[in-house]
Amino acid sequence: MAFIARTKLLAADEGFALDDFETTAEIAIPDDPLKRVVGQDEAVKLARIAANQRRHFLLVGPPGTGKSMIAQALSLHLPSVTEEIRIVHNPENPERPLVEVKQRDEVLTDQSRLAGAEGDLIDPKEAPINVAERLGYKCVHCGTYSSPTDRMCPKCGRPKAASQGNAGNPFGDLLGGIFEVTFAQLGGRDRVTTTRQQFGKEEVVVYERAGDMIRVLDQKALEKRREVEKESPRKVLVPITRRPFVLATGASETELLGDVRHDPYGGHPQLGTQPYDRVVAGAIHEAHQGVLFIDELPQLGHMQRFILTAMQEKRFPISGRNPQSAGASVKVENVPCDFIFVGACNIQDLPHLLSPLRSRITGAGYEVLVETTMPDTDANRVKLAQFVAQEIAVDKRIPPASRDAVGVVIEEAHRRAKTLDNQEKGLSLRLRELGGLIRSAGDIAVTEQAKVIDAEHVRRAVKVSRTIEDQIRERYGSYSAGVGTDMSSSQREASPYHYWNEHKADDVQGYQ
Ligand SMILES: Nc1ncnc2c1ncn2[C@@H]1O[C@H](COP(=O)(O)OP(=O)(O)OP(=O)(O)O)[C@@H](O)[C@H]1O
Ligand SMILES: [Mg+2]
Repeated sequence: MAFIARTKLLAADEGFALDDFETTAEIAIPDDPLKRVVGQDEAVKLARIAANQRRHFLLVGPPGTGKSMIAQALSLHLPSVTEEIRIVHNPENPERPLVEVKQRDEVLTDQSRLAGAEGDLIDPKEAPINVAERLGYKCVHCGTYSSPTDRMCPKCGRPKAASQGNAGNPFGDLLGGIFEVTFAQLGGRDRVTTTRQQFGKEEVVVYERAGDMIRVLDQKALEKRREVEKESPRKVLVPITRRPFVLATGASETELLGDVRHDPYGGHPQLGTQPYDRVVAGAIHEAHQGVLFIDELPQLGHMQRFILTAMQEKRFPISGRNPQSAGASVKVENVPCDFIFVGACNIQDLPHLLSPLRSRITGAGYEVLVETTMPDTDANRVKLAQFVAQEIAVDKRIPPASRDAVGVVIEEAHRRAKTLDNQEKGLSLRLRELGGLIRSAGDIAVTEQAKVIDAEHVRRAVKVSRTIEDQIRERYGSYSAGVGTDMSSSQREASPYHYWNEHKADDVQGYQ
């Protein structure tokens, strides 16, 4: 069949038939992240509501069915964040730094004010020659300009600087190439102070390295910089430019709730780092105005209680959590943490969820049991085709799949619905594993330099991607027979492995 050049891609939600495409390159990948989630219609519907109404959300179900994907897609439906959280030095009591919440437009105003103190950026070629040489932009031998991080001149191959930082070192010639030794460490400088004539007067000018550019600070900029430094010192704790999605699975208490770093000089005014500057945000604060996502929720154990408090108060203090540390005496009250909580877990874990936390979610949000299969209908087959297109697009390293290849993936989804979830007329939604199948089929196609993934590639991938349990079953007839063959007789009596699997016997796949 001739290849049809399409002007418009096929969209699953507008409906198309599996006969309508030659390869998955013709299938549109939805712009709406929630539309990329296949087969979880109920969860997706509630995720939209949760995003609009700022409700909490609990997703329950087996691995690889889209829980993390839904949580992330939900966060992309939130309006962009409007607040930046800063920690301000408290001159009266440095160990009680203060919180400052700035709105987006204030942050922008501040930034443009600071820009005045930041000087002008110029091309190194516009700087005086000796400045360009001393800052490491220009080779003293051949005059070629290059990045100051290259110690060797890319043109003549000699060290750019006149001063030989590596003189006396037998490997001096190699160091620049092998180790990442920065120019500054080798005697190059990152700041040069000179004077220049301006309107008949001599004034001080400072040139600083700024990546590939040079920053020039004239008298006015230098004064401004001094002025800004005099204002009450502060640090940005949660910046306005941040992603509205924070993953806190497996977080420690400090990662979750924040901390105040230790200072060996105990915050000594001259030697130490001031307390405000040692305050570190927790995941709950970083998720302010966004989504705090915690996978495998019961693993948090007693820390679930902190989440509950943070959810109720929408503020949570940050204090030093190590009693041995100089940070322990520092505390910042009322740090905002107004997040949408999204938790995920398996069905077996439900009893380990803190009940007040769960009731908080049911009281101000939604709980959803995700699906493991969807009905085997034409519309759902088309959605699986979209899924295949998506996985290929995300992977970036494998070619599109032919219609027949998609057909084999669908057959496999059908077979898995039956073997894993006992659904005769279903399609499996354990899509992480199905994605793995597509990737290995793609790898086979790439190895064979094929332009598309065809049905045969997928069939071979099905063989390759079988789980060890499947392989054992095939070779030995049943899983337990296989386990038996692999053990010496003494092991058979007292193997901890055998003991561990006793109750499961032949049911290692049934993770429901
Ligand atoms: N419903 C789905 N629609 C589209 N793709 C999916 C779906 N479910 C899983 N996938 C694919 O599988 C990958 C893993 O899914 P995801 O991380 O959301 O699973 P999960 O349910 O969070 O699993 P776990 O319980 O192991 O954390 C996704 O990145 C996506 O490529
Ligand atoms: Mg997950």
